[in-house]
Amino acid sequence: MTRKLNVVPFVSVDNMMKLVLHLGVERVMTEIAACIEADFRRWPLFDKTPRVASHSDVGVIELMPTSDGKMYGFKYVNGHPKNMREGLQTVTAFGLLADVNTGYPILLTEMTILTALRTAAMSALAARHLAPRDARTMAMIGNGAQAEFQALAFHAICGIDTVRLYDIDPVATEKCLRNLKGSGLTAIACKSPEEAVEGAGIITTCTADKQYATILTDNLVGAGVHVNAVGGDCPGKTELHRDILLRSSIFVEYPPQTRIEGEIQQLAPDHPVTELWQVMTGAAAGRTDARQITLFDSVGFAIEDFSALRYIHGQLQGTGFFEELDMIADPDEPRDLYGMLLRASEAEPGISAA
Ligand SMILES: NC(=O)c1ccc[n+]([C@@H]2O[C@H](COP(=O)([O-])OP(=O)(O)OC[C@H]3O[C@@H](n4cnc5c(N)ncnc54)[C@H](O)[C@@H]3O)[C@@H](O)[C@H]2O)c1
Repeated sequence: MTRKLNVVPFVSVDNMMKLVLHLGVERVMTEIAACIEADFRRWPLFDKTPRVASHSDVGVIELMPTSDGKMYGFKYVNGHPKNMREGLQTVTAFGLLADVNTGYPILLTEMTILTALRTAAMSALAARHLAPRDARTMAMIGNGAQAEFQALAFHAICGIDTVRLYDIDPVATEKCLRNLKGSGLTAIACKSPEEAVEGAGIITTCTADKQYATILTDNLVGAGVHVNAVGGDCPGKTELHRDILLRSSIFVEYPPQTRIEGEIQQLAPDHPVTELWQVMTGAAAGRTDARQITLFDSVGFAIEDFSALRYIHGQLQGTGFFEELDMIADPDEPRDLYGMLLRASEAEPGISAA
């Protein structure tokens, strides 16, 4: 995109929705998954740090930075399980991409919708490497804001044709059923987690509760199943009974972050886990036998957001799906920042720089 460096393309929620609908939801998630896989394959190149989390009694606010040496990205994201009961989103986010060479931002965007897209893309990408190849049915436990994105990503990327939905709140399940009509997926409402996991080769848990919850008990996870555990992503906030972890081969994004935030916070700090990027490069094995339980202990890592940001940046060219933000003060003479302010006061009678 050729542009003045002080003007930053901004993708509002409205424009994000237009862009995603223009391209197609499943296509966007398939292409974000390809970007994530490409970035995971060059994993050693990235700056990596566990996200910086500010916890309160009711939720968490986090910053997620990374860089590949050419571009720098970060996401601001919150997690407030109680928000939904107040008519607010549990998770909201926005993010920024910058040019490492100048430090100037090159994209500012909403990321609430983009986070749902990238989380689902990441889940389905992990499952493509780990789930049984013949899995066509997924149990979807937790039918909130992320749920349809998860279902559609598994449809597009893993060939799932049936989702069995369960939520403690039937209103959420009805919403999901309604939204998935015409999607090509057969969606079935279930009355219990036991009913939801019947015949499912993949179990996704995507609930929100600020506690050690037991969404899946040990007896619900049979041999050969792939578990995609999305909702346990904070200290003191997990979804799986510990015994499931002890029977599973566990795959993670970035161990220093997952050991703090993921299901594996319930295990010893040296419990063996496999890093997904190594499965993608072929350095580590994924699923090795049909009876193995594979578990993706998803917490969401900065590189996935970086991949999503660079994907959106790449898609904007030639579209009208952004606004130009006058965001960076950039005087013609770089040392004359104050002079720029003075000239603005001259142009606006009644306003003084002093
Ligand atoms: N791993 C990641 O990368 C990632 C990314 C985004 C969100 N998340 C997490 O995913 C979770 C879901 O997010 P969301 O935006 O869909 O939240 P949401 O509040 O919109 O939906 C959560 C749903 O879980 C249901 N639920 C709560 N307890 C349950 C239980 N015991 N059994 C069944 N259902 C239950 C609620 O009724 C609600 O419908 C959150 O915990 C969020 O922090 C993780």
